[in-house]
Amino acid sequence: MKRMVTVFLGAALVAGLAWATPEDDRQAFVEYFQNRFPDVAVADYINGVYAIDPGAYEQWVQIEEFAPYELAIAEGKELFETPFANGKTYADCFPNGGIGIRQNYPYFDTATGQVKTLELEINECREKNGEKPLGYKKGPIASISAYMAFTSRGQVLDVKIPDDPRAMAAYEHGKEFYYSKRGQLNFSCADCHVSNSGMMIRADRLSPALGHPTHFPVYRSKWNDMGTLHRRFDGCNKQVRAVPLKAQGEEYRDLEYFVTYMSNGLVINGPGARK
Ligand code: HEC
Repeated sequence: MKRMVTVFLGAALVAGLAWATPEDDRQAFVEYFQNRFPDVAVADYINGVYAIDPGAYEQWVQIEEFAPYELAIAEGKELFETPFANGKTYADCFPNGGIGIRQNYPYFDTATGQVKTLELEINECREKNGEKPLGYKKGPIASISAYMAFTSRGQVLDVKIPDDPRAMAAYEHGKEFYYSKRGQLNFSCADCHVSNSGMMIRADRLSPALGHPTHFPVYRSKWNDMGTLHRRFDGCNKQVRAVPLKAQGEEYRDLEYFVTYMSNGLVINGPGARK
């Protein structure tokens, strides 16, 4: 009987049965990884691949000691505090002056009927105040986002799905994206980060999906630079040679909504450092 229940949950996870609530999905998701990596504490999934790879973990701890994202935090703070031409600042656009709020993003905005991410709102704030929007994948937006994440370290991720069919649809859309095969290689996100997590793909060990959004933006050695979550989505999409999608377009925002909901209950530890 126990086995049947497990199989059933697994099916719900993969097929996205209509009756599965987001909370059912999240619990099944966490349980899946607990079964897959029984020695890893749930709280440690915020460390990505380093949570499941003790050898790489040691190296990573040393990298974090001279954190390569420090400069981005400092730059982000400066940008965040510098007034726009009209005298307003980012603080005027966000709850709590933008400090310690990362854990509430993305959220579903019932007024506009869409998923709002932190980076989207950074640009909305700029445009509302007569400034040009920033590029979404790297540069100043990654620094501002890094600073805002930094002020939110230790806060518990708390993404909400309001009682609104459009919010549920956005969540389901993101979930469907996560489990859909795409690209010339015909891989879904879940193929790599759920069912093959922990396995090697060329020189990389595949990180578990649980905890993925907690530490963004990241300084990535391969980029020699900071990047936002959507930059990373884009990189993974390229790996499977799928059609490129727009950073902060609806697909990636809904995807972020789903993956972040799956990590609810974990703490924000961004920005992070990755290989
Ligand atoms: C062919 C395998 C593959 C597929 C498919 C894939 N990824 Fe990745 N992904 C990787 C590899 C390799 C890395 C770098 C090592 C790691 O952290 O897993 C990575 C890293 C990531 C990271 C950063 C993890 C961290 O701790 O910083 C995120 C987030 C991510 N992928 C999301 C996605 C999403 C969303 C999709 C679907 C659009 C996807 N990936 C599809 C291979 C894949």
